[in-house]
Amino acid sequence: MKAKIFAIANQKGGVGKTTTTVNVAHGLARRGKKVLIVDFDPQGQCATVLGMNPEPGVFNLLIAPTGNPHQWVRETGRENLHVLPGDRTTATAQIVLNAESRDISAVATVMAPFAQEYDYIFFDTAPSAGGLQERAIWASRFVIIPTATEFLSSDGLGQIIGLLEDLKSKKGWSGGLMGVLPTFYDTQTKQSKVAMRSLQEAFAEYCLPPIRRSTILRECPSGGVTVWEKDPDCVVAGDYQKLVDLVAKR
Ligand SMILES: Nc1ncnc2c1ncn2[C@@H]1O[C@H](COP(=O)(O)OP(=O)(O)OP(=O)(O)O)[C@@H](O)[C@H]1O
Ligand SMILES: [Mg+2]
Repeated sequence: MKAKIFAIANQKGGVGKTTTTVNVAHGLARRGKKVLIVDFDPQGQCATVLGMNPEPGVFNLLIAPTGNPHQWVRETGRENLHVLPGDRTTATAQIVLNAESRDISAVATVMAPFAQEYDYIFFDTAPSAGGLQERAIWASRFVIIPTATEFLSSDGLGQIIGLLEDLKSKKGWSGGLMGVLPTFYDTQTKQSKVAMRSLQEAFAEYCLPPIRRSTILRECPSGGVTVWEKDPDCVVAGDYQKLVDLVAKR
């Protein structure tokens, strides 16, 4: 298997999962790596933040696998960057997977042809726990857990860390945590600094360098652009550049 597969996960909503997925994926694509984004969130935002329309790609691949699996992959208009989009039907796919008690390896199996072709695959996941998230993590070699430093959100972190431990000890998962990624970091607020420090204490070398709160990043989705297209020289582009460097070393 060629591709390094990453899952971006946290049951907590609005912590920067999709933002991280898309900007790290595009950052690597700009370095000449062949990258596929897979959207496992029924909100279908990977497509929209890239200026595209959500589509039932994930549903078709998982539930109605006829013909060439590559037919569901879309060009993004960016060199080396492709997306397997999702939409509301992804929620149905999750229900079917659970109802049929599909194996924990179900996502790994359908991704196998893509893993031969791409250098990196990034799974964006929904802000909820569930069978699809579990199977996506199981198919991944590394997991990045974005967590907002605006408030102390460590309760949600316990849940996802517990899931990773269960997948390892009970389901034979061979991947692991790459790190917890502090997001919405704001050096001006005490809250943010306290949250950052507690993450560093709890996760040590598994606490990644933070992504700062940035108006530019907030504005990217409405323009359907990544930070590299909006302003590659801005402060938060520098933050994501560091993360791209770390991912590229894996
Ligand atoms: N560092 C940041 N600074 C400012 N705004 C940000 C930052 N990161 C993300 N955002 C904005 O916050 C919102 C939520 O981010 P995003 O969609 O990436 O979170 P998410 O975890 O994927 O959410 P969901 O759980 O709903 O899928 C978006 O409008 C995004 O543009
Ligand atoms: Mg999201």
